[in-house]
Amino acid sequence: MSNSNFKKLEELRQKCLLGGGPERIAKQHASGKLTARERLELLLDEDSFIELEEFVTHRCIDFDMSKRVYLGDGVITGIGKIDGRTVAVYAQDFTVIGGSVGEMHAKKISQLYDLAMKLGIPVIGLNDSGGARIQEGVDSLKGYGEIFYRNVLASGVIPQIVAIMGPCAGGAVYSPALADFIIMTQKSFMFITGPKVVKAATGEEVTFEELGGAEIHTSYSGVAHFMTNDDKEALLLIRRLLSYLPSNNMEDPPVIDTLDNPERMDYELDDIIPSDPSEPYDMHEIIHRVLDKGSFLEVHKDFAPNVIVGFGRLNGMSVGIVANQPKVYAGALDINSSDKIARFVLFCDAFNIPVITFVDVPGFLPGTFQEHNGVIRHGAKIIYAYSLATVPKITVIVRKAYGGGYIALGSKHLRADLVFAWPSAEIAVMGPEGAVEIIYKKVLASAEDPQELVKKFVREYRKKFANPYFAASRGYIDKVIMPHETRPLLIRALEALSSKRELQPKMPKKHSIMPV
Ligand code: HXC
Repeated sequence: MSNSNFKKLEELRQKCLLGGGPERIAKQHASGKLTARERLELLLDEDSFIELEEFVTHRCIDFDMSKRVYLGDGVITGIGKIDGRTVAVYAQDFTVIGGSVGEMHAKKISQLYDLAMKLGIPVIGLNDSGGARIQEGVDSLKGYGEIFYRNVLASGVIPQIVAIMGPCAGGAVYSPALADFIIMTQKSFMFITGPKVVKAATGEEVTFEELGGAEIHTSYSGVAHFMTNDDKEALLLIRRLLSYLPSNNMEDPPVIDTLDNPERMDYELDDIIPSDPSEPYDMHEIIHRVLDKGSFLEVHKDFAPNVIVGFGRLNGMSVGIVANQPKVYAGALDINSSDKIARFVLFCDAFNIPVITFVDVPGFLPGTFQEHNGVIRHGAKIIYAYSLATVPKITVIVRKAYGGGYIALGSKHLRADLVFAWPSAEIAVMGPEGAVEIIYKKVLASAEDPQELVKKFVREYRKKFANPYFAASRGYIDKVIMPHETRPLLIRALEALSSKRELQPKMPKKHSIMPV
């Protein structure tokens, strides 16, 4: 082969590396963002990246687009490794026509998805794009449609993680929305219609950040699961998140030696539950003390903080944690926490990650806001998710387990494999005060000293139901345990359940209908 052939290839490669050119790269840096290539370098193991379709270009000639042709068409795609495991990755290049998605840009992402599904490897998207390339009209919309279709096909087959590292506007938001996890950097935003359209349509004045910044989406809308200060933090977080997940739904998650003693008993757990049943405490304390040290990665931390979900490890094994947080709304369930739990449990189930639930739930949050906005419909999702899940499910009732909350949060009746309860557990249809008001309504109405009588009835009710032993006598609790025994017991239980294979009774049907 002649030298000129080699030279041509070298020239093209160099051109690829330049993206939209030095000026636009400088602008990207000045705005506090890394380039697509710099991001890939930080994300992937050294020298592991195989770039694909790097010479692809668009074929649009309208609007002078024939003068704006860039190799790769604004997105770098390929396969590489993270901690030695193969992943598929695409990184949109904002320096090339604003990372906008034209026909060929979209085709590259779609082909990457096809490859990832064949190989059974996760897809990671690094998004930084002005959305559908306006000059390419319906061709770019078609491109998005093809990506969305693959997002849905890949769901539950391979993990999909998207980091939003710049703009993500218009219908473009729906690809991340169909993925499993969204990470947003402080420099990013997501919205269907931007501030200008909002102003024109409604008169409302709003900034990019107020409308769809990382803070809004991680705390208020729940669209995003994680927020990071910058690109680097987001890329490290992707690496960490992947360490809990298998590469596809046919594999088990990796087991990682955490050097924490599986037999470790934490006696401080015995003092965590306050003697006053209405006094709050921080459920994080329990989670951190039970799991392998430093292994908890909280998901959706700032959204619906009345419940906690996240990944952790027990003797190195990946687990999904669901827990009430008594510090917020006394740990009661509501619309957002129902969505948060249901989504997380379904993810864990799809990817063979056992679910461990720590329960301290007074029930569902009362009030017109909740009822009018569909807490019935949303709460049903928790029941749906736990019932559908066939991964090992272990529940630890640490304090209250009242009413619908008791049933929904991994009860035996929704097929939890093992249910443990601490001696502080209270399992009943409802809390003592409310229950006494109802069942003794007539007696109290005619009593001389109803307040004293209420106290007496509450005492009796607590004796009967506010303990784990009535439920244990029915076999709904497998074991009442001391809090300090929780860690070693969960580890033993997980090991025992590792061979679990559950085939639910299957009627002929295409799929069930999630109560969305
Ligand atoms: C074509 C685009 C583009 C787009 C940006 N560019 N978005 N080109 N199609 N969608 C180009 C700009 O013209 C500019 O090119 C370069 O990218 C950089 O953009 P700037 O505006 O200079 O950057 P910045 O000031 O940082 O602003 C970024 C931005 C803004 C906020 C993203 O560009 C913007 O508002 N773009 C439009 C966003 C949007 O509404 N997209 C369409 C959504 S509708 P030059 O050569 O001038 O530097 C949609 C429907 C999809 O996506 C539906 C799919 C189902």
